[in-house]
Amino acid sequence: MDFAIYVVTVGVKFVADLDTEGTRTNEGKLNKPWLRKESIMFKTRVTEMLGIEYPIIAGGMNWLSRAEFVAAVSNAGGFGIITSSNFASGEELRQEIKKTKELTNKPFGVNISLFPSIKPLPNDEFVKTSIDEGVAAIESSGVRTPAEYIPRLKEAGVKVIHKCASARHAVRAEKDGADLVAVVGFENGGALGMDEIPTLVLIPAARDAVKIPLIAGGGIANGRGFLAALALGAEGVVIGTRFMATKECPAHPKFKEWMLQSKETDLAVIERSIGMPHRSLRNKAVERLEELEAESATFEEIAAVVTGEKYKKTFLDGDLDAGMAYCGLSVGLVHEILTAKEFIDGLIAEASATARKLATLGGVIK
Ligand SMILES: Cc1cc2nc3c(=O)[nH]c(=O)nc-3n(C[C@H](O)[C@H](O)[C@H](O)COP(=O)(O)O)c2cc1C
Repeated sequence: MDFAIYVVTVGVKFVADLDTEGTRTNEGKLNKPWLRKESIMFKTRVTEMLGIEYPIIAGGMNWLSRAEFVAAVSNAGGFGIITSSNFASGEELRQEIKKTKELTNKPFGVNISLFPSIKPLPNDEFVKTSIDEGVAAIESSGVRTPAEYIPRLKEAGVKVIHKCASARHAVRAEKDGADLVAVVGFENGGALGMDEIPTLVLIPAARDAVKIPLIAGGGIANGRGFLAALALGAEGVVIGTRFMATKECPAHPKFKEWMLQSKETDLAVIERSIGMPHRSLRNKAVERLEELEAESATFEEIAAVVTGEKYKKTFLDGDLDAGMAYCGLSVGLVHEILTAKEFIDGLIAEASATARKLATLGGVIK
């Protein structure tokens, strides 16, 4: 393993809350060896390179990853990322970066979309603005890498995290000079990728294929998932779906309530027919899209249903049937709305307790 683990005395409350059955003896002593007072600090190359406390990244989410939410994640010790595709120009992005800086003095990043887009994005301007404003990292996503921007970003000291959905694209990102690579498995709430490889296989496949620090996502929503990703070879995680159900995320309360009611079986894979598979909670718009995809509808007909303006209403206005409701399978693991800090602290505490519990297997700890 490439990461060192340090034990520190934080996270007491959450560890003690994890397992109520027999947690303490009558004398008040902990009677399970893994339920100790300390949380583990998961220090990895990702925490070092991004200058953050925990290797937990809130991946950029269209319409949602705005200043207050991004700052809340970074203030909690994770890494928040503003989504540039929410903005029409570099100047608009600059205002959001400035707003974020007013809310946090911790590092944060900017997401750049390299996916084909009906309306071309001013990515050149977004990169220039990110450099001018000195953001810590660019998270790019798409089937191509941000090769054309990498020399400029490197020179400016902005780290490049390229996010993709297959080991072969991770290899490409490394070759093109990315500093870190993120792989997201088929469970994830963003673009699913054409290979449709689940996280359990994707992480070790990517780990064996690249040397640069590896971040992994897709279905991670708690400390057990986080620890599993590290066990598989990741040095950090990228989380989207679980972060949508935090208090600071600007998703509409009705959307968050819908998430709490939903299970991992309440989603559909859509947009395969246009070569951009995604996953959405089932609603009327998804039913309509499924009909169109079954009828081999044209790209224009499909685009009219999946358009960003429609799903903006779903996410931000709580008009739940208006458009797509992009979401990952981990929605089934979301049981409460927490602040970003409560979520991150709880995740780290659960991962620490789980690591200790695993260490007792084979009688290492008595
Ligand atoms: C509603 C939603 C919107 C997203 N939008 C983007 C985006 O604009 N750009 C991007 O790179 N990733 C996007 N993602 C993907 C996330 O950044 C992250 O990689 C993914 O959600 C991690 O998997 P998880 O949802 O299983 O946690 C989005 C995810 C969700 C749920």
